[in-house]
Amino acid sequence: MKINVHYSTQHLDELYFTGKTSVVIDVLRATSVIVTALTNGAREVIPVSTVDFAMKVSGNAFSGQTLLCGERNTKKIEGFVLGNSPLEFTQEVVNGRSIILYTTNGSKTVVKAKFSENLFAACFQNLPVVAKHLVTLNKDVEILCSGNNGNFSLEDTICAGKLAAEIVALYQETQLTDSSRASMVLAKSIGKNLFKMLKETEHGKLLIENGFDADIKECSLYGVKDVIPYFVSGSLKKLDLPENNSEITAS
Ligand code: MLT
Repeated sequence: MKINVHYSTQHLDELYFTGKTSVVIDVLRATSVIVTALTNGAREVIPVSTVDFAMKVSGNAFSGQTLLCGERNTKKIEGFVLGNSPLEFTQEVVNGRSIILYTTNGSKTVVKAKFSENLFAACFQNLPVVAKHLVTLNKDVEILCSGNNGNFSLEDTICAGKLAAEIVALYQETQLTDSSRASMVLAKSIGKNLFKMLKETEHGKLLIENGFDADIKECSLYGVKDVIPYFVSGSLKKLDLPENNSEITAS
């Protein structure tokens, strides 16, 4: 089993992912939102890469059951029901609903990796359960940092490093590429206090400036959820983990 980390996916063609096992990370905030929505009973999260497509999908859907959500420059888009704050995705709001999600980086990364044989979403909140599942699968893993418009993102890289470390702790024979080793070194050196680290990142500072301080705290919580979002037939659904972890099905 080999782990590779991409600090951004902008340079990659979508066909690169064919047959791969991939994990998308966007700690602030898309994958934290996806994990929260599915934990709180959302039926599915449909990631989209343009606002136009989000509108089109929602126009075709049965309106009461579908929520159009997402952000531009961290703020809710006009006409959308929710923005991209995990705190908005409560059980009362999302239970039984399909979420159409457009975000600047995270939803686009999921769409780009859609040809992966296995495609998961991770954030700090569900990292241990994702690591455990990847070890059970025992396939080479591509960890995809959503980054920031093609640029490096510290929080995604530290999350990738922690995921790699969790996997290595469970399976010592894991092979590491240079990029995954570097992400582990970063996670070890500045990933101890996740709340502090997130507040000091470029995107963390922007979120605080725009009044989303509480989101930083929420996104810094580690291992508090055991939901694994799994991409199947165009949307992310909660992976059903059988007792012995030997079979994959999505509900
Ligand atoms: C993104 O996809 O870039 C983010 O989730 C932006 C955000 O809402 O903070």
